Amino acid sequence: MAVDIEDLLSRMSWEQKLGQLQIVWRKDPAEQRALVKGGLGAVFWPPSAAATNELQRIAVEETELGIPLLIALDVVHGQFTIFPTPLAQAASFDPEVARSDARASAEEARAAGVNWTFSPMVDVTRDPRWGRVVEGFGEDVFLASGLAAAKVAGYQGSGLAEETTVASCLKHFVAYGAAEAGRDYNTTDISERRLRETYLETFRVGVEQGAASVMAAFNSLNGRPMHANRRLLTGVLKEEWGFDGLVVGDADGVAQLVDHGVAADEREAIRLAIEAGVDVVMGGTLLVDAEGTPLLSPGELSQERVDDAVRRVLRLKERLGLFDRPFVDESREATAATAERRATARGAAERCIVLLKNDPGRGRERLPLPPRGRILLAGPYARSLDHLGAWVQRFATPVAAGLADALAAELPGVDWDVAEGADFFDPSEEAVAEAVERAREADLVVLAVGEPSRISGEASSRSDIALPGAQSRLIQAVAATGVPVVVVLVTGRPLVVEDWIDRVDSVLCTWHLGLEAPAAIAAALSGRVNPGGRVPMTFPRAVGQIPIYHDHERTGRPPQLDGMVLPDEQAEFAGPNNTFDYYTSKFIDLPLGPRFDFGHGLSYTTFELSDLTVSPDRLREQDDGAGTAEVSVTVRNTGTVDGDDVVLLFVTDAVASVAQPVRRLRGYRRVALPAGGSARLSFTLAVDDLCFWADGTHRITEPGEFSITVSDGASTVSHPLFLA
Ligand code: BGC
Repeated sequence: MAVDIEDLLSRMSWEQKLGQLQIVWRKDPAEQRALVKGGLGAVFWPPSAAATNELQRIAVEETELGIPLLIALDVVHGQFTIFPTPLAQAASFDPEVARSDARASAEEARAAGVNWTFSPMVDVTRDPRWGRVVEGFGEDVFLASGLAAAKVAGYQGSGLAEETTVASCLKHFVAYGAAEAGRDYNTTDISERRLRETYLETFRVGVEQGAASVMAAFNSLNGRPMHANRRLLTGVLKEEWGFDGLVVGDADGVAQLVDHGVAADEREAIRLAIEAGVDVVMGGTLLVDAEGTPLLSPGELSQERVDDAVRRVLRLKERLGLFDRPFVDESREATAATAERRATARGAAERCIVLLKNDPGRGRERLPLPPRGRILLAGPYARSLDHLGAWVQRFATPVAAGLADALAAELPGVDWDVAEGADFFDPSEEAVAEAVERAREADLVVLAVGEPSRISGEASSRSDIALPGAQSRLIQAVAATGVPVVVVLVTGRPLVVEDWIDRVDSVLCTWHLGLEAPAAIAAALSGRVNPGGRVPMTFPRAVGQIPIYHDHERTGRPPQLDGMVLPDEQAEFAGPNNTFDYYTSKFIDLPLGPRFDFGHGLSYTTFELSDLTVSPDRLREQDDGAGTAEVSVTVRNTGTVDGDDVVLLFVTDAVASVAQPVRRLRGYRRVALPAGGSARLSFTLAVDDLCFWADGTHRITEPGEFSITVSDGASTVSHPLFLA
């Protein structure tokens, strides 16, 4: 039975309205109950289905209007069954991975009484120093938008009123990922053009997908903190895009307008934020206390704005079916991962693994591991259970056994030796020396190293993104023995790997893969699973290259490898023939480009692309929307084992009135091919895909030539396309 929102609104007092505009944060259960009784309309998960029902009962039965509650929780990559981190999911280049995570998350969360998740994070970011890169989908707008849409679809299913869906929340609006120096919460200052092209786009796509809410970001943008940014929260998000969901402030983000220095006190901060378009305040001084006393009087806020905000809250509650079904069936609550969801999480984890390096240099590739022989497993991740990632709650199902156990089960014919090798942080010479000693007795060494979950995520920016502690030293020392070395890199962000990467044979990047990480990693090491993930965020050679990303704009002096002869002292950085164009955009103390570019990833098999066609290869500008070209390419598995290839479609604009990126991702496809098999892939390219933002208000096309490039890293084919 639909509730009449306008009628309900007309019966609400000022206090009752303000109560709907606050989410109770950081309160114990008794306080939560008292505040709900006092009239607050949204709370953090209590946390159980029974406690949720009790809060809903108070809201529905013990308050005058009986309005049910929004019950929120950050369910970012699983509530009980933890999936790979979002950055890892991006490495799968498979939106289905993101959708399946969100689906499982929604089922678990809603059954436990949660109806609102603060996810997905859709902040595009080009700075791996920023710890929160682990929560997002990497550096590319097109890839991130697709995964954001998949997450929203997964959380919200075919309708919020269903018993297995939760309202999603796109965060953090906007440009939070552009924090200066990658330091969390820091200032951003971005041109209007780049804001449209890069930072707003993932949100626009998420809104188009029907995301129920959006969270304001902590950062200021061009001098205006986002919680007080009326032009973007109201002007762009609500008015231009027609977003009719609700905007929630981040934790204490409204109160922090005082720290930003744009509000004298918290009352002014709340006024600024609500007038700017924030509908629900998280944290800070409560708008209404447990006695129902309001913080602000009616004269302090525009009545119209408050009514609009309340309407948005009530509308979401209605969409969630809460007026009809405020309670959840406690018997359906699961408090741990089920076998079925574990299997889905395992499948997802297997798809996110990236083979960064597999050097045939010393005779043969070291991966997959041989089924027999003596192998030493060392490094902090040999036994660590810390694979869940940065955004998990304390009630997540823990990883039961580490890599050592998973590998023993996966490859029982191997004579395994396991050494600790090095702590994550504390350099211990003895442990390194012991690993070296044992390495000498092995045929091969697997070094499982990386970042523990807690040094990525919120407030975890790092100025140095090398392996922490003595881990690089461990790798160098073991590699110096001459025994072949395979590195398993468990990480929340791209790392700088220069001090060891050339000394080892193979590297498998696994990210934080979640509950099923050890088994998934073992399967990729043994070759039972052929790694098919790709890097969704560039690995720099040095921190000094940051920000670094694949779709950078063209410059007047692009670096080239076929220019001048290098002075002797720089010869080591030269390209083929020892040439290097000196007066170009580059670092004189680094080889050109990143260590691993966006899209990089190897396989245990090889692929070849051929027969690229673009049809028609002429489009007309007037056909905007209707005009499309079909881009087709054949991909063949030319190796001897089955595997997945990831094929990327890039567009390059030859000449435009505004400097364009060297390439723009406009399509991607992950395809599974048996050994010797092939497939014909097709992408549809629209005139719209050739558009660009000329400034902050005009998105335009310009006639001319474009180059269509299809690449899987190993092979690249191009074809021109003309826009008349
Ligand atoms: C984070 C948000 C999160 C919120 C609530 C904040 O510190 O920035 O992403 O949703 O806390 O947990």
